[in-house]
Parts: sequence; structure tokens; C-alpha cells
Amino acid sequence: MKGIILAGGMGTRLWPVTLGVSKQLLPVYNKPMVYYPLSVLMLAGIREILVITRPEDQGNFKALLGDGSPWGLSIEYAVQAKPEGLPQAFVLARDFIGRDRCSLVLGDNIFFGHGLPELLKAARSQEAGATIFTYLTRTPEAYGVLIRDADGRPADVVEKPRTPISNEAVTGLYFFGPEVVEAAAGLVPSARGETEITDLIRAYIKQDRLQVQEMGRGYAWFDSGTHESLLQAAIFVQAIEDRQGLTVACLEEIAYRMGFIDDEGLHRCVAGIGNSSYGAYVRHLSQAVRKGTWVK
Ligand code: G1P
Repeated sequence: MKGIILAGGMGTRLWPVTLGVSKQLLPVYNKPMVYYPLSVLMLAGIREILVITRPEDQGNFKALLGDGSPWGLSIEYAVQAKPEGLPQAFVLARDFIGRDRCSLVLGDNIFFGHGLPELLKAARSQEAGATIFTYLTRTPEAYGVLIRDADGRPADVVEKPRTPISNEAVTGLYFFGPEVVEAAAGLVPSARGETEITDLIRAYIKQDRLQVQEMGRGYAWFDSGTHESLLQAAIFVQAIEDRQGLTVACLEEIAYRMGFIDDEGLHRCVAGIGNSSYGAYVRHLSQAVRKGTWVK
């Protein structure tokens, strides 16, 4: 199973903040935005990851994530020269995907919730077809939405509907088989000049090969692509972390819990991690592991 993080785009809804820096490198409270979608792929057990960025941002992503080896990952990079739609990610990742199944996560999507690892594992173990994750929204016009038939089965998906037809948003996390590459390559751009992920999903609905996992009200989902949602996500993460004393999307902790790195690997992560609250959390974790007081 391969993982793709799409971290391209102009971030126009965040201008002027994104004029000088990639949206997905902006902080969401105490860590860069891209840590959150990366943590989701890791929780799904995915270790081979392709990060797609604008050409001018690739160096910064490499400085941040490197080759992923400290977290037991293999991270590769590709560039999206022009944003021509989300499905373009699969075409750019053609060689990387090869004959494997893959998960695409959008670099500005943040997921949180008890049971998320189980939900991800279920999607990962699916052998054919595609899985999408839906979430109820008050602003369906900002998203792709799922339409169901009278029996509750998926009937269609519509990108950013102008009239209210469904409030079940399709989140930016998808699992597909390797056939998605050819399907994406064959898409025709929509009226807004880009290919649409909803057109890909619709093809799976027509073939009755789409699984829908609903993220219920116990989950939090943010697309941190506007000033308001970026601030909301930061405040949410700060509140949870402050109450629990646990760090959300701590890559070192997830790598250790998932068994991607061992005790020594975790200790190595501590070197040079700095004195931020994030660094202190990882250092504390490593010390507890060393003393044998860490509870899994
Ligand atoms: C994209 C997709 C949309 C999806 C959303 C999730 O929209 O096109 O179907 O619901 O991501 O974040 P964008 O936010 O890129 O406009």
C-alpha cells in the first residue's frame, strides 16, 4: 500500500499568508499542517509515501520531512507544475504506485477521533474498489458531497453543489486500487478547467465498487484551507493537547506505536529535537520508554 500527500495548490483562500510559503507548511498550533495528513497515512500502516508539491516548495518540504527514515518511513517527492485537479496526483504518481493500492490524503485535511486507526485499517484491508470517508457539514457548497438513494446506498457525488442536495461531505482521504491511475489519466476537465476527484469516485459508484465510511459526530475533520478553518483547527488541537497532555499527530510517537521504529530509533529522534513543547513531549516519551514506565 502506497500513500500520497497532495500538498500543491496556490492556497488562494489564505492569501496573503500563502504568498511566500506553501499552505501545507503553515503551523496548525504547534506543528506544520502536513504532519497531520502524514500521521493519518502512518496510522493506516503506510510507510511508502510520495509528497507532491509545487516546484518552488519542494526544497522546504525536503528540509522538513527528509527521506522519512527517522520515522521508519520512505518519503519521495514529486512536483505538480500546474494545479490541474486532484486526480492529477495519481498520474504524477504512476511509477510510484505501480501495481499497488494507494491512499491519497489532501495536505490540508486534519482528522481526529477515537477509532480512527480502526477505520483506516478497515479501508486498508479492502482488496478491490475504493473507499471514501464522509462527514456531515454545515457548508456543503465548499466540498464534494455524497448523494444516497432511498436505501442509503451511494448514488452520486457532486462537487461543490450550488443548491443544497446533501450535507454529507466527501473528505480529502481516499483509498483506491492501482487502476485509478488510468482512470485519472482519462478524465476530462470540468467547467472550472480542472479534473475532479468526484468524477473518479462516480465511476466507482457506477460499478458498485465504492465503500463509504462515515465519520460520525465523534470525529473532528478540518480542511484548514481558510483563515477561519486554520484558526479553528489550531484551537481544537491546542484544547485537546492541553486537556490530555497528549500530542496530536506526533510523528515520533506514532512511528513508535506502529512499530516502524524501535526503542533505539525513538531515542535517536530525540537528538536535536529542540526545546519546544513538541520536542519536550518526544523527549519525555523516549525517557519513559528507557525507564520502562511508558504505557502503550
Ligand atoms: C477538494 C475536493 C472535494 C473535497 C475537499 C475536501 O476540494 O475537490 O471534493 O470535498 O477537497 O477537503 P478543495 O478543498 O480542494 O476545493
